[in-house]
Amino acid sequence: MRLWGGRFRLQGRDALFEKFSESFSLDQRLIFYDLRVNQVYLRRLAAAGVLTRVEARRLNRGIEALRRRVESRPNWARGQASEDVHTWVEAQLEKEAGPAARKFRTGRSRNDLVATEMRLYAKDAAAQLLAACLRLMEALLGQAHAHPRVILPGLTHLQPAQPVLFAHYLLAYFEMALRDAKRLEQCRERADELPLGAGALAGTSFPINRELLAQELGFARPARNSLDTTSDRDFVCELIFACSLAVTHLSRLAEDLLIYSSPGFGFVEIADAYSTGSSLMPQKKNADSLELIRGRAARVQGALTGALAMLKGLPLAYNRDLQEDKHALFDAVDTAGSALEVATRVVATLKIHPRKMQAAAQAGFLTATDLAEALVRRGMPFAEAHECVGRLVRYCFEQSRTLAELEEWEARRFIPTWDSELATVASSLESSVEMRTATGGTAPSQVSRQIAAAGRTLRQLKSRLHSQK
Ligand code: ARG
Repeated sequence: MRLWGGRFRLQGRDALFEKFSESFSLDQRLIFYDLRVNQVYLRRLAAAGVLTRVEARRLNRGIEALRRRVESRPNWARGQASEDVHTWVEAQLEKEAGPAARKFRTGRSRNDLVATEMRLYAKDAAAQLLAACLRLMEALLGQAHAHPRVILPGLTHLQPAQPVLFAHYLLAYFEMALRDAKRLEQCRERADELPLGAGALAGTSFPINRELLAQELGFARPARNSLDTTSDRDFVCELIFACSLAVTHLSRLAEDLLIYSSPGFGFVEIADAYSTGSSLMPQKKNADSLELIRGRAARVQGALTGALAMLKGLPLAYNRDLQEDKHALFDAVDTAGSALEVATRVVATLKIHPRKMQAAAQAGFLTATDLAEALVRRGMPFAEAHECVGRLVRYCFEQSRTLAELEEWEARRFIPTWDSELATVASSLESSVEMRTATGGTAPSQVSRQIAAAGRTLRQLKSRLHSQK
């Protein structure tokens, strides 16, 4: 079946082009949306006098029967040939409900139809991804709760920098996931406008109440401009962007954990369930889950570039290029969803080795800044303090010793006022973190406040998500 036969000589259609042009293999995942939109639209058609009450009832029953059939045989449509999901549903409906199905297309086009269904999909997908973000945030928070006092050598440039609480580190990723979650909420809001009733591009001449249509399909409002809404895919780009940034965050976490779990660091251990071995080297345990997350981020970024390029220079209004939005959006949503889920499980099952973190922090002279700052509190200009402590660190490094292992007479060669107080500053990672009490810092008092706040934020987001359903 075709929705556009009359204008064409249909003998001699090229099978290669038919295959090139079809989207049913992809857009069949919109079947339930198509049925729902049809069901609501038929009520408006009946109200507009296009369908008789009898026809409307028959079609409604036909849609219900079709829905049940697809529900009971989820793979039924797979492998069937059709130009797209709208064509397929109309053909099935004609079998189910007879010639009344041929009135369905009145006043609408696949252009406003597909835009409507993609928006319904985008709204659901954003809500599902948001739920996945919340699960990741919960796992991060769970680990932070479990290890409130563990100290991690904080890195900049991948070089030892200053001690931070491991919980503080986890909360950094909580912040990223929180931004992702909020971005997804906003994506959902922006997708929340109804295209249907815009026709192919110019609007409809039948008395279709689009305000009611919007209400019945759960949209906040009908779109204001028919030209724009039939060819607008901003909501697709935005959702792919939200996915891209979320998996980009995951790729940073993945990279951190790959480094931290390598034997040179040994700070954390990835659960066996999320690791794989080598076919050749029996000793190998590789964190492939994290490498795949890192790699898949590239794919989602590719989808974003693809979607933006699809829109670039596209003349108003609908053009068939827009069919390519499905590939990009479905893949981005699927990939981001599964990456979030796997990352959540890796985090939830992560084993921590605090002693390894502690030893690395000691060896990395991480208290050097604290020492310089202690000298400043005794009246030395910071530039001078920086210089003295720098020389002291070089000495320790050359002697293969840590700051904590220094004898008093050695330290005095570099810092004449060296005493037991400075020795404590030099050796205590705990006092280093405890000092950083300013808002957003790594002091345990701050971090426990941040953990409590994160818990509250998570509960708010969860209840907001549930109230949407
Ligand atoms: N399958 C198309 C899409 O996904 C919708 C059909 C619009 N086709 C057309 N010839 N106007 O965008």
